[in-house]
Amino acid sequence: MVKVVVCGAAGGIGQPLSLLLKQSDLITDLALYDVVNAVGVAADLSHINTKSKVTGYGKTEMDEALKNAHTVVIPAGVPRKPGMTRDDLFKINAGIIRDLAEGVARNCPNAFVLVISNPVNSTVPIVCEVLKKHGVFDPKKVFGISTLDVVRSSRFVSELNSSIDPKNTRVTVIGGHSGVTIVPLLSQIPNGFVDSLSKEQLDALTYRIQYGGDEVVKAKDGAGSATLSMAYAGARFTLTVLSAILEGRSGLVESTYVNLEADAAATAAFKEQTGLDYFAQDVEFGRNGVEKIVALPKLSAYEQGLLDVAIPELKTNIAKGASFITDSA
Ligand code: NAI
Repeated sequence: MVKVVVCGAAGGIGQPLSLLLKQSDLITDLALYDVVNAVGVAADLSHINTKSKVTGYGKTEMDEALKNAHTVVIPAGVPRKPGMTRDDLFKINAGIIRDLAEGVARNCPNAFVLVISNPVNSTVPIVCEVLKKHGVFDPKKVFGISTLDVVRSSRFVSELNSSIDPKNTRVTVIGGHSGVTIVPLLSQIPNGFVDSLSKEQLDALTYRIQYGGDEVVKAKDGAGSATLSMAYAGARFTLTVLSAILEGRSGLVESTYVNLEADAAATAAFKEQTGLDYFAQDVEFGRNGVEKIVALPKLSAYEQGLLDVAIPELKTNIAKGASFITDSA
């Protein structure tokens, strides 16, 4: 049985994400949990003629929803409105994520946990600290989904150079998942892409990748943030991880925000140098989740400059998430 639970399944991301996951034969049980309307969404999706059985769970049924889950995907919480940063969401979303992580520790302590809810830089440390508190933390199994930054990078790059196929050009994005902490490694794109840009073009492209979410928030004008592109990115990430875990496919890599203990040997020097416990970078997946954290390539001077700005902000975000749990212990 491969039971995947979507927490926040009736939301703007949760619904299309659940629809995309329903299309995969890797999943046998798709459990949809939300404080509103999950039962309705589940009834709707349950008529689709794919293998998985879909069940819906309402507000008081979190434990039942999470029971024996293989993988838990979390897009629960409030999204941004114009003028808000992801950090502004902390007040509300931190408590939601903490409660869901408590539910994971109680009902499926061995599950893989994939976090979409913002601010990801802080919500992932919250999940990890809760699991640590319960003695069930495995750093190889907790991921912050920053795939939307990767998806946007591929698309935006292809808009500047028509010979680049956005589907097959994966851009490594390191750091975190908000504003200046998003550091796209555009120098890694083959055929001298980055050298073909003027300094102004490179600045504009970098800014667009870092603040791409704002374009959507502004265009939706109060009706939320990215949901459809996020559902696409979330499904791509979830199904890639599941494929490595369940089918043993090797060489599957995505950039994702993880606790660096997931590959302590590979990251010891970086941790010591930066003081960071969490970081987004390319991760290769395996049967146990993180197979290895891929070594950082040589950064250009421009990228190193971006990383230098990202590190202090990331540190603050991480400490804020971790202390939300440790200070209340
Ligand atoms: P939404 O408001 O449309 O949906 C959120 C859903 O979570 C709602 O259905 C709500 O009822 C549910 N929910 C609230 N509290 C809950 C709880 N305690 N347990 C279970 N469900 C609960 O919001 P949307 O647009 O789907 O965004 C969800 C989250 O994803 C936000 O925090 C947003 O900032 C984040 N996000 C993350 C991105 C990323 O790249 N990682 C990209 C875009 C959004």
